[in-house]
Amino acid sequence: QEIHYFPEVDSTNNEAKKLAANGCPEGTIVVAESQATGRGRLARGWFSPFGKGIWFSVVLRPPFGPMDAAKCTLMAAVGVNRAINRVTGVGCGIKWPNDILWNGRKVVGILTEMSAEMDAINYVVIGMGINANMKEFPSEIAATATSLALATGQTVSRVILLAEILAELENVYTLVQQAGFESVFAAWRQESITLGRQVRVQGFQRNFSGLAVDIDADGALLIKTAQGVERVLAGDVSIRY
Ligand code: BTN
Repeated sequence: QEIHYFPEVDSTNNEAKKLAANGCPEGTIVVAESQATGRGRLARGWFSPFGKGIWFSVVLRPPFGPMDAAKCTLMAAVGVNRAINRVTGVGCGIKWPNDILWNGRKVVGILTEMSAEMDAINYVVIGMGINANMKEFPSEIAATATSLALATGQTVSRVILLAEILAELENVYTLVQQAGFESVFAAWRQESITLGRQVRVQGFQRNFSGLAVDIDADGALLIKTAQGVERVLAGDVSIRY
């Protein structure tokens, strides 16, 4: 297995996509101490200070179609959530689709990117940002972000945590290939902090609120509203406390 380590990159996802386009093997990892232009979902940036977090990407070449790419992110969320809870003992949960939160604040973000032709995936890059040891955040995210060090009161070993995350990712990926996504969705439901809550959806066309009741076979969030059950495949969901 290839592990590419960098003191600094623009974005580990960019680096992983280049390697994937050049034919690197499945399971190739790109990990960096810092990212100059770390990227988040919905064209946001990702705060990636030197040595404080785990900024990495993994290249998969899954035997499924492009419609399944979003489900890979839910799968990854289950793997990373398990590893974090086991290594640190903190009680993190998954916010749909793929944020890991502790105490209502974000500890992990996941950015999945795909290259596909016709009905076959060429590669999927799953990028994860784990806020391990930072003590402070830029003012824009100070109210919504936290770190494992703040959650536990201790410095977290990034090497141990990354090794456990990679092992758990391999477990969930193997399970999905053997038994299908539904086998991992069961765990996603259990570890979810979104289901059973009132949520507000900021969609591309409209905003609405309702009760998050389940995810379906596509990984879409099902929300019960006065008008009926709405299905959300992409977008931003906030939990109302
Ligand atoms: C989000 O929550 O918006 C997703 C954040 C993903 C951040 C990680 S850090 C490693 C990888 N490289 C990037 O540029 N982004 C992802």
